[in-house]
Amino acid sequence: MPNRVTAKACSNIALVKYWGKRLTSLNTPDVGSLSLTLDKLHTITSVDFNKSLKEDIINLNGVPVASVGYTRIKNFLDLIREKAKMDIYAEVNTENNFPTAAGLASSASGFAALALAGSRAADLTLSDMELSLLARRGSGSAARSVYGGLVEMNAGLNPDGSDSYAVQLYPESYWDLRMIIAVLSDKQKSIGSTEGMNHTKQTAPYYNQWVKSSENDLSEMRNALKKQDFQKVGEITEHSCLKMHGLAMSAAPGIIYWTAETVKIIHLVRSMRRDGIQAYFTIDAGPQVKILCRSQEAAAIEKILRREPEIDTVISCSPGPGAHLLE
Ligand code: PMV
Repeated sequence: MPNRVTAKACSNIALVKYWGKRLTSLNTPDVGSLSLTLDKLHTITSVDFNKSLKEDIINLNGVPVASVGYTRIKNFLDLIREKAKMDIYAEVNTENNFPTAAGLASSASGFAALALAGSRAADLTLSDMELSLLARRGSGSAARSVYGGLVEMNAGLNPDGSDSYAVQLYPESYWDLRMIIAVLSDKQKSIGSTEGMNHTKQTAPYYNQWVKSSENDLSEMRNALKKQDFQKVGEITEHSCLKMHGLAMSAAPGIIYWTAETVKIIHLVRSMRRDGIQAYFTIDAGPQVKILCRSQEAAAIEKILRREPEIDTVISCSPGPGAHLLE
């Protein structure tokens, strides 16, 4: 069995959003989703199954992970141990090059990197589909970070989750898209995605309509990507984002991930469009605004964003690669 194995995975941001689980136990989604993998936000994880260990040791950015975070990763390691038919504890060292749990999809890159490094360290060689299925058990969006470029996650129908995995639609070289992330100061702790999704499914009056209408968003997005129709891609991206947040807000009590600054940047993006700049926003389970554009307009958009006092950091991302091993 190899000793330490290290893998790198990039985060991804959904253009067509996932919100709501079909089966919480297997982490299968009620809706498909479609995302762009981002080169600038990544996790590097090393895993070493070592017979001398008395328990799993898990460090994030050099600090031991405690309580819920520890259990979540330990349970994921149990899945790998079960697959590999062994019961050796592991030492996991993971580093994010961006703020963890700040709505920048650290669980996507984190569980994709852990799925690859962990499975290889356990001497398993999984196909991309198998890796995506495994990564999904850690976090739904992680199933997409197995691949680079533009990626689609199948909702799937099977009771055992075997058809709930992602596939690559186009590699990172397909289209010179950019995703510019406006990191806003986030003092509040937002509701985690699992809790938010379950609460929404239980109480939001529009939930069934959300599920029903997602198939249409996905097929329109596939068409727009095929034609490289940027305006259409942007329009569907904003629509899916607003629909997801409108749905969460319609839960009882409503979930509001936005801050006043989020709303300000939404309007700023729309004013850029009125000025002829093709920019479209999307937002996840936190206040940060991500702006989709093409490479030729990225510099102008970044310049406008950098003038905003509410924005702490501007990170300009290109399409990134899929999860891969590091030497
Ligand atoms: O799979 P999770 O728990 O990271 O949830 C992802 C939820 C959203 O980021 C809001 C949407 C998405 O499709 O990534």
